[in-house]
Amino acid sequence: MNVAAVRFEGVSKRFPGAQALTDVSFDIAAGACHALCGENGAGKSTLGKIIAGIHQPDGGRLLINGSEVHFSSPRDALAAGVGMVHQELAFCDNLSVAENLTLSDLPARGGIVDREAMRRRAEAMLAETGTELDVTREFGKLAIGQRQMVQIAAAVGGGARIIVFDEPTSSLSQAEAERLFALIERLKARGVTCIYVSHRMPEIFQLCDAVTILRDGRHVATRPTASLTESDLVQMMIGRPLAEYFGRHSTSGVGDEVVFAVQNQGEPITAPELERLFDPLRRGAARPPEDGGLGLGLFICAEVAKAHGGSIDATCTNGTTAFTVRLPRAR
Ligand SMILES: Nc1ncnc2c1ncn2[C@@H]1O[C@H](COP(=O)(O)OP(=O)(O)OP(=O)(O)O)[C@@H](O)[C@H]1O
Ligand SMILES: [Mg+2]
Repeated sequence: MNVAAVRFEGVSKRFPGAQALTDVSFDIAAGACHALCGENGAGKSTLGKIIAGIHQPDGGRLLINGSEVHFSSPRDALAAGVGMVHQELAFCDNLSVAENLTLSDLPARGGIVDREAMRRRAEAMLAETGTELDVTREFGKLAIGQRQMVQIAAAVGGGARIIVFDEPTSSLSQAEAERLFALIERLKARGVTCIYVSHRMPEIFQLCDAVTILRDGRHVATRPTASLTESDLVQMMIGRPLAEYFGRHSTSGVGDEVVFAVQNQGEPITAPELERLFDPLRRGAARPPEDGGLGLGLFICAEVAKAHGGSIDATCTNGTTAFTVRLPRAR
């Protein structure tokens, strides 16, 4: 049997005031694109950061390619072939792309930085990932998608064979996201293991071979993506059937205070109907706000109206505010 690229054995992590992970065990196959999904605060980023050496687990074992590792920094992780791509990563905004890519090992001749060699090396690193970019440009002036490509080039150029992507498309345009997906496919074709943190259904189903679902810091399941429907995945993420989820949110709240009610031309929309209407939304990119009241109500109405082009009056109350939104009839 092939050795897993990443194995978690009973991994736990506590932050002051939050138990982020509890006894998490699962494997990530070498060369796979493996999704980590779950609701807000489920522990996805913490798990990704443990693989990449940013956080250290308090309990359990992490094995990379079959050997137990103890990373105390991202540099340790990269030395073991693990890189991470995330939005808040500290690249130097006021340095060029070439300088950022070669910073850890500047090419020099006679004690002076060889700028020509630096440029060539940076271009080669970007070419490895199929990215074309003027490497003399200042990093801080690049579009977000381009910054991500530079981070990926840095990881791959630094020898990463396992790369964690933490919600990489959250601030990308559709065109930038498509470029990222193509790059992930190329990395996969070269045997790089990609760990893809996301709760966007289309991306998970398009890119990932397997998916691990986390809920409240615990491992729920690890499955081949092909064995699941989107509805299965959502249910495992939220821990209950969707109808129940919307039953809770779409009828009168505690006492006589209406938390969130939806009506279609004066008729209340029932939970199963809402679930049916919600179906295209599950495939959509957006994620509902977590407040369960006003925000969730408006979000659902806007998305349902977009998907169905209907007219929906939503009355949402959050204690002090009550108003009705009539969304335009699109057809
Ligand atoms: N550095 C930290 N200090 C304290 N608590 C933290 C820290 N990082 C994460 N947590 C807490 O650990 C839990 C898991 O957080 P984590 O960021 O891993 O979730 P996530 O699944 O990535 O969520 P999201 O979808 O919002 O990104 C949450 O309760 C979070 O508040
Ligand atoms: Mg996160």
